[in-house]
Amino acid sequence: MADVIYNERYRLDAKIGEGGMAVVYRGYDLILRRQVAIKVLRPAFSADAAFVARFDFEAQAAAKLSHPNIVTTYDVGKVDGDHYIVEEYVPGETLATLIARQGRLPESVAVRYARQICAALAAAHRQELLHRDIKPSNILITREDVVRVADFGIAHAVDESAFADRGSGEDVVLGSLPYCAPEVLTGGRVTEASDLYSLGVVLFEMVAGVRPFSGTDPDALADAIVRDPAPDPRSKSAEISAHFAGIIARLLRKQPEQRYGSAGEVLAALRQIVRVPAEDDDAEEEAGPDAPTEILRRRARQTMVEAGAKPLELPALPPPPAWRAGRTLAYAGIIVALALVIALVVAARQASSHDMRVPDLSGKSIAESIATLHSLGIDNVAIRQGPDPIVQGGLVAGTDPSLNQRVAPGQTVTLLVSTGPPTVDVPNVLGQEPNNAQEFLTAQGFLVRVGAKVHSATIRQGLIAATNPAPGSPLGKGGTVVMSESLGPALVTVPNVVSLTEDEARKMLAKLGLKLAVNSQVSVNNIPADIVLSQDPSERGSLAPGGTVMVDVSAGPAAIEVPMLVGQTLDAARQTLSGLGLSIGNVVQADVPDKPPGTVVSQTPGAFARVAQGAAIDVVVSAGATTGPAAPAQSSPPSSSAPTIPIPNVIGMPLDQAKGVLERNGYQVNRVIVAGSATDAKVLSTDPPVGTTPSSNAVNLIIGR
Ligand SMILES: Nc1ncnc2c1ncn2[C@@H]1O[C@H](COP(=O)(O)OP(=O)(O)O)[C@@H](O)[C@H]1O
Ligand SMILES: [Mg+2]
Repeated sequence: MADVIYNERYRLDAKIGEGGMAVVYRGYDLILRRQVAIKVLRPAFSADAAFVARFDFEAQAAAKLSHPNIVTTYDVGKVDGDHYIVEEYVPGETLATLIARQGRLPESVAVRYARQICAALAAAHRQELLHRDIKPSNILITREDVVRVADFGIAHAVDESAFADRGSGEDVVLGSLPYCAPEVLTGGRVTEASDLYSLGVVLFEMVAGVRPFSGTDPDALADAIVRDPAPDPRSKSAEISAHFAGIIARLLRKQPEQRYGSAGEVLAALRQIVRVPAEDDDAEEEAGPDAPTEILRRRARQTMVEAGAKPLELPALPPPPAWRAGRTLAYAGIIVALALVIALVVAARQASSHDMRVPDLSGKSIAESIATLHSLGIDNVAIRQGPDPIVQGGLVAGTDPSLNQRVAPGQTVTLLVSTGPPTVDVPNVLGQEPNNAQEFLTAQGFLVRVGAKVHSATIRQGLIAATNPAPGSPLGKGGTVVMSESLGPALVTVPNVVSLTEDEARKMLAKLGLKLAVNSQVSVNNIPADIVLSQDPSERGSLAPGGTVMVDVSAGPAAIEVPMLVGQTLDAARQTLSGLGLSIGNVVQADVPDKPPGTVVSQTPGAFARVAQGAAIDVVVSAGATTGPAAPAQSSPPSSSAPTIPIPNVIGMPLDQAKGVLERNGYQVNRVIVAGSATDAKVLSTDPPVGTTPSSNAVNLIIGR
């Protein structure tokens, strides 16, 4: 059968009982990891909004009660129209089944239970909460024989409800009728004394095995309760003391004001019951002044024996006095209270040494759990780790032995510490078709959600590019995997790199994950070398990551290598240069004996030098016997104007410089005679010589190295 879980928290495990108002389940609180009792209101009640409101109200009030003899109410809730109340699960049985099984309970047991019921009622009455439905089935008895009173106030919701008159409501009234006080049946004021009357009926039934009143039908029963005097339980073969019989009789008075004034008063009266000799020697039950003293005596004697000493003769206590009113009573009260405290301490010690049980540690920290165990006298604690679907990692999920199991002295209790929910590694579905991936993950027990698409440089568009958690990450069983399809690579917007240096451009693109490649080097005048002149794609174009931007880079203005012109004719030289974007500059004729006329014998700059585009190359051409074709202007004799200053010293100057200096001084270079190598030639001498003032301004230069 599938688990029924209310509000993702309370699992209904097994039906444990049915009352007039609710069906009761043993259940489990998945969050706090503890057993609970879940009372699911019968549908007829759930359907009545006013009833539900009152039920909630009463349950909330009951939840405020915290007392060792009151069943703790944990929660009230609603699921699909079912209203439920969650309370402490009390393993054991109800007083109803105990009476049914045993017939009659001994006085000592009845008194012990009576005290605990009184303690519960006193606590509730102090909070101005009446029980209104004290009956044996609402008195739960734990396996440790502790009384826990259930269903405080809940009956109020029923009483006030229209259901009290209906079929299902009648059951409730019927179940509780024998315990109803006369004033409840006659419409009188319901007070604390009404709870005390019900207690009287319960005590009567405990010791007599039958209830004080009976009837052939509910009406007859109600009449008897209202009218007939209550019998003495001893007349119904109860074997109890007169004192106890007196207490029961007073609880069953018709007039509420004739009963005890409060549950506390009943408790005081119960404490005065002299110990019955036949009863068992269970120390914690008895608060008579002799009981703890006797235990102390026994312990003292035992200690002495263990220490090898003679038993200490404690003076015998006088027999308990017959209780009289007045001061004696006050003293007795103090002694009783003291004795009770001692008894409780002794009982706790005994419990810790003889009856250690594993406490509920689930959800606690390791340190807290160990401290708790130590305080209970359990010193040997081990730790075992393992996954747990609910308990947070690092906290205690359980124990071995488990909750409530007995622990022998010296036995080890192992804390089962959660490592968090069991996990599975998320499988790798990257690169798969979404449908396949989803199918695969689902088959592995994961829930799958489709997330936003993402760019991927490596995974093709439309395939799974990412999962969250990532492949290989641990994920709780049944956890959710979000998978994202690839949008393909994210495109990079190309920036402008024109006018940057090639180096700067390469770095800028690299930062964006792009590469740079030089398409060509172009020389442009006025633009220095290594400057990006153009780019493709252009600015704001886009590229996949890792893509390449092609650029043209300036080769710089001095980018043309001057060709070797020497040996060529002047015409051939002119053609060679124009093919390279260069031109012929000054042409000077020179008498070079061994070179055919018209041949270039020298050039400036020389071959292999780098010049800017459009630069002019000066050349010296062999004149030979005839006038060179390329220098007609210079072949004509210089003008006849007479120089006024002597020929300046141009020795050692390059040809160009020497020419400039001479011309500024009114001379004309007539011929250049190359002596030796023409390359990088300097003026070796002039004709007429430097410092003379010839009649003609024509000067011949002899150059060489
Ligand atoms: N907190 C509880 N822990 C364990 N058993 C319970 C608890 N509350 C009720 N029960 C069991 O469920 C039965 C039905 O309870 P309930 O609906 O209160 O009806 P009633 O009190 O009239 O018997 C009880 O008789 C008892 O056996
Ligand atoms: Mg009940």
